[in-house]
Amino acid sequence: KKRVVSGVQPTGSIHLGNYLGAITNWVALQDVYDTLFFVVDLHAITLPHDPKELIEATRKIAAVYIACGIDPSKGSIFVQSHVGAHAELTWLLNCVTPISWLNKMIQFKEKARKAGEDVGTGLLTYPLLMASDILLYQCDLVPVGDDQRQHLELTRDVADRVNHLFGGKQWKKRGGPGGRIFKVPEAFIPPAGARIMSLTDGTAKMSKSAPSDQSRINLLDTRDEIAKKITRCKTDSFIGMEFDNPERPECTNLLGIYQVVSGKSKEDVAEEVKAMNWGQFKPLLAEAIIEHLSPIQKRYGEVVADPVYLDGVLKAGAERAEGIANATLDNVRNAMGFLPRH
Ligand code: TYM
Repeated sequence: KKRVVSGVQPTGSIHLGNYLGAITNWVALQDVYDTLFFVVDLHAITLPHDPKELIEATRKIAAVYIACGIDPSKGSIFVQSHVGAHAELTWLLNCVTPISWLNKMIQFKEKARKAGEDVGTGLLTYPLLMASDILLYQCDLVPVGDDQRQHLELTRDVADRVNHLFGGKQWKKRGGPGGRIFKVPEAFIPPAGARIMSLTDGTAKMSKSAPSDQSRINLLDTRDEIAKKITRCKTDSFIGMEFDNPERPECTNLLGIYQVVSGKSKEDVAEEVKAMNWGQFKPLLAEAIIEHLSPIQKRYGEVVADPVYLDGVLKAGAERAEGIANATLDNVRNAMGFLPRH
């Protein structure tokens, strides 16, 4: 079976963009692929964090995975920090990756600008922790939103570089199996939903850390909150509703959200809404979002009410992940020339 891995950071508030750009695609892939989904808590400390919030958010994201339909009997769910190999491989990759590759990362530049003087080293090397998350599992596909595209390209470059520097014939000469150390994975970026934009600015991405809660629909927002946010969201003064008019980013974004939550095709949506005005479209959209999220929210309530179940899922997940990750890490150590422990 081919393998899929992906994860979400337990920071801020998980929103419709995370769900539509990533998690909903994981659910679709779990029937066909071997899957491992992690909560990337080590990534969550690359910006200043509150320990109490981190531990709560880590459980919350794990419960959200299950609530969204990730089935622990089909794939594995685990917490990144529970599998020590992630941090260890990151160190090895840190030492073989040119700093110029990391300096080019758009997310680093954006986040560093916001963090100002306090920017930690981890924010720069963050993509190598992500590369470790992926490469440890020798996976085929990584389903993510559009904003992770560059990190996936870096991951592929790092994999090639390590394979080239330490794999192949020279590894064989030193008594290793030779060949490839890491499988080079592909990004899976969905055609719709990969870039959900803010409700208050159709040119900015919906984000967990945006100060205004009005800019996003959180996965666990109540019916009233969702209705209110859609009522108040930014619109324009054009007549009718349409996709892809560059002067109407908000319209394209909201129609896109409607398309994915309603499960309709783009053509059908375009036809359905073309003669509507904002006052007619907004309640339709709000209702479609509420209807889509309400079973997830119900299931979330059930999962958090049973911490023993959740702990069991995470324990089994970490045990299975550890087996795969340690096998890769052993190979990397061997290829790079570390003396085996006897
Ligand atoms: P994170 O936690 O910022 O986001 C989780 C997932 O949600 C997607 N996403 C979006 N998709 C559509 N529209 C949006 N507005 C939107 N905002 C976020 C992200 O692309 C992502 O797929 N570094 C990653 C987490 C990570 C990871 C990994 C992912 C760590 N290791 C290994 C895959 C494989 C991150 O911070 O995602």
